Amino acid sequence: MVSTHPAGVQENGSKYILSQGNQKETVSPNQSLLPLSAKINDRDHLEIGGCDVTTLVKQFGSPLYILDEESLRTACRQYRDSFKQYYQGESTVLYASKAWNCLAVCAIVASEDLGIDVASGGELYTAIQSGVNGDKIYLHSNNKSREELIFAVESGCTIVVDNWYELNTLVELASKNGSSSCVPYRIMLRLTPGIDCHTHDYIRTGQLDSKFGFDPNALDDLFAFVSEQSSVFNCVGLHAHIGSQIFEKQPHQDLAALMVEWLRKAATYGINISELNVGGGLGIKYIESDDPPSIEEWVKPICQVIEKACLDGNLPLPKLLCEPGRSLIGTTCVTAYSIGASKEIPGIRKYIAVDGGMSDNPRPITYQSIYRAVVANKMTVPLSETVTIAGKHCESGDILIKDAQLPKTEAGDILVVMGTGAYNYSMSSNYNRLPRPAAVLVGNGEASLILQRESYQDLIRQDCLPERLKKNEQ
Ligand code: LLP
Repeated sequence: MVSTHPAGVQENGSKYILSQGNQKETVSPNQSLLPLSAKINDRDHLEIGGCDVTTLVKQFGSPLYILDEESLRTACRQYRDSFKQYYQGESTVLYASKAWNCLAVCAIVASEDLGIDVASGGELYTAIQSGVNGDKIYLHSNNKSREELIFAVESGCTIVVDNWYELNTLVELASKNGSSSCVPYRIMLRLTPGIDCHTHDYIRTGQLDSKFGFDPNALDDLFAFVSEQSSVFNCVGLHAHIGSQIFEKQPHQDLAALMVEWLRKAATYGINISELNVGGGLGIKYIESDDPPSIEEWVKPICQVIEKACLDGNLPLPKLLCEPGRSLIGTTCVTAYSIGASKEIPGIRKYIAVDGGMSDNPRPITYQSIYRAVVANKMTVPLSETVTIAGKHCESGDILIKDAQLPKTEAGDILVVMGTGAYNYSMSSNYNRLPRPAAVLVGNGEASLILQRESYQDLIRQDCLPERLKKNEQ
């Protein structure tokens, strides 16, 4: 591996230093968005986890998700340690695996002593196959199937019950021997807090008009029912989640206070709530002007609000849970693409096309999300062009970045889009029958494959050709 140095030269000739850990020494704006271990090596190439990105692309192909193990483990520890520092009661951080669910990611977060939040039988299956114990897993979803419920209780998971239909299904399962050996079922109740926050409409969940959770205005009926069914339900906790990519701290503090009120109300029905889960939602920095609170800045006031409310109300401190996804994994990963065709429309714009697009990153077309990119083999070449990065799909909206500032590029250059760890692979598709990219985990100069690139055979793995449609070979 070529030797590395963390310094480069800016367009104006002055030195800058890449972001390292919590140091805020970055001068070049784009590079502050890279994973913690990012460096520029002697070849002027981007290196992550001690691996030259251009070499990774030669070895594993492109597009390629590159996940920095150091960044992921650091974020896990920041959450865990912040709760230890600011909360006197017990705490558990759950990784919201919908952000990126695969065997390796589940195994890493579990090895950092985090639990896992899963949102379907498939995510649950993956977590269990990665070696995570059921008692560390919490199952979500606003429409869990019977099979998912049975799978969860038989795996020893906690079910975060979302609605009356699910409560009734569980009662029925308990009585019909569906999973009667597991009763009482360990559950939490998800309540809609009626708290609004500033984020994209599609990823706001806390407002009253939401498909998730029980109506907080009907808590009496809910708590009465759950307490009457104490042979079916071991209701240990309450859960709420207000949305995603949130930069404000106040909504989570309001939520924390509200949840203690709910806990107190549950107690009046004889339900002893020992766990409060305040959900996830902390935003990350996708572009230079994004300024989210740090993990510690997010955790601290939540702990303080809960401690104070419990102290004031003479209540024992519940175990405090949260379930971040994006802020654990979002900035740990970049996607490397090969640049191919380009098209310049004089006076209008220049398009540069890459070998992936909306199938490996559907966030720009879905939420108008903005990303930044660097060119991995031209890290200190001055930024001289404003270009639009297009994907390769048959869809005009398949644009990854509008007006990206890049050095002059040519076919074969490696474009790296930053901040692609959260909700990229997990929302990827095979649109236009593009095989999904590979993913590698990098650290200490080594790269390990964690997702194999899909092949054309993989694309037709589930296809069935009825006999009558088969070409008669005679
Ligand atoms: N807990 C629950 C119940 C959730 O629904 C979510 C995210 C989380 C935790 C984790 O939230 P986070 O810490 O990642 O913000 N696909 C969208 C994001 C959807 C979020 C869904 N729920 C995107 O790409 O922005």
